[in-house]
Order: sequence, then structure tokens, then C-alpha cells
Amino acid sequence: MKNAINDLNSLINSDDIGESLKSLSDRFPNSVIFSTSFSSEDQVIAHIILANRLPIKIFTLDTGRLFPETYSVWSRTNEGYNTTVDSYFPNATHIEKYVTEKGPNAFYNSVENRKECCFIRKVEPLKRALSNQSIWVTGLRAEHSQARQHLNTLEWDEGNSIVKYNPILHWTTDDVNSFIKANNIPYNSLHDKGFVSIGCAPCTRAILPGEDFRAGRWWWEDTTKKECGLHER
Ligand code: ADX
Ligand code: SF4
Repeated sequence: MKNAINDLNSLINSDDIGESLKSLSDRFPNSVIFSTSFSSEDQVIAHIILANRLPIKIFTLDTGRLFPETYSVWSRTNEGYNTTVDSYFPNATHIEKYVTEKGPNAFYNSVENRKECCFIRKVEPLKRALSNQSIWVTGLRAEHSQARQHLNTLEWDEGNSIVKYNPILHWTTDDVNSFIKANNIPYNSLHDKGFVSIGCAPCTRAILPGEDFRAGRWWWEDTTKKECGLHER
């Protein structure tokens, strides 16, 4: 699969994401999967999948620490599209041990603690979700960070041994918001309150005008460490 990226590029039409997703799901039946955090980016992709009834499973990593607003947009998505989004939860034994030994908010105390929490609540469940799949669809956008500007629309993810497809990598914020509005798509109300990149509640804040898009994620940490391990290259 790693060497197949060039061939797969021929299935991708950047002007028609629905068609590209259909070609991929025809080529890899029951083996294309989309991860959503219910951000506006992810809602765009969910809409394209659900409105076109594409056979692509949609899942979320429910860390147990998401904002009430995120659970709300999840419910509204299920109801609005008459669908269900698969939920992946952290391993109960691991999270019980971590919280018992370190306390519920240990991620503020050190980068090590924070990465361990992200590993238990996100990275390990992600590996379970992606196992036996061929293509992982994400809502990553280049505009979100310096590191993401070097990504490709189709990438080989060595850590998870899977091809990653980032269909809206080069969309702007305006492109995303216009699509949401034009299609009347449910979105996370935190976006109207200055939240741009939204993760877990204790680790996400709104950003100020002019601040970096990811300034609101793990804001107490050095900017070079602001990845949770889901998208490490
Ligand atoms: S993160 O690495 O900082 O957490 P980010 O919030 O930018 O990621 O989201 C980028 C993409 O990662 C999303 O479009 C989505 O595909 C995936 N993602 C992030 N968080 C989750 C989550 N909780 N559940 C499922 N997918 C997620
Ligand atoms: Fe834990 Fe914060 Fe990472 Fe969520 S973002 S998994 S609460 S450290």
C-alpha cells in the first residue's frame, strides 16, 4: 500500500471530493473510514459522505473529556442525517489507573503526563479504529499549523500503516464556513465564540484575533509540542 500512493492519486479529483471518496470506497470496499472530531472541517466531510450515502464508516474518539457543545453537534448530526457515528472509548483499565494514580487533571503538570493522557484517550483508541482499514479520511487543514503545511492530500501514515486522505487540506476557513452555511450543516457552537481548533474541554480555549489557529490547544505548553500523537509523522 505504501508504494500505491501514486496510483491512488489518479482516483482523486480535488474539485469533487464526493467523487474521490466514492472511487476510493469502490476500490477498497468496507475499508475506507473517516474520523470526526465534529469540527466544521469534519462536518463538511461528514455531510459529503452522508448526503451521497457513501459506504464509509464515520467514527469519533470519545475521550470522555469533550465539550458539551461537541456532544450536542454529535447528536444533531445523528438526528439530522438519520445516522450513527461509531464511538471509540479509552481502554477502561488504562484510564482508571492513570486517573487514580495521577488525578483527573494531571495533563497540566507536565508534557509527559499530557502525552500519556492523549495516548490513552486518543492514540490507542485510534489504532483500534484504524485496524484492518486501508484508507483513513481526515479533516486536516494546512492553514491550521506550520507542520500541516507540508502535508499531502494523500499520505502514507507509517505509525498506523494506512493511507491517509486529507480531502480539504487546502480549503480556507472561508471555504469551510461557506460550505457549512450553504448546506445548512450542524456545527459546533463554540466556533461562534472564538474557538477554532477544538479538542478536549480542559485542553482547549478560544483564540484572540491574530493568534495562531492552534494557540488555543494545550496553550500552557511550548508551541513545538502541540500535537497529541494522532497525526505525528
Ligand atoms: S489533533 O491532533 O490536534 O487532535 P485536530 O483537532 O487538529 O487534531 O483534528 C484534525 C483531524 O483529526 C480531524 O479532522 C479528525 O479527522 C481527526 N480528529 C481529531 N480529534 C478527533 C477525535 N476526537 N475523534 C476522531 N477524530 C479526530
Ligand atoms: Fe487528555 Fe487533554 Fe489530551 Fe484530551 S487533549 S486526551 S484531556 S491531555
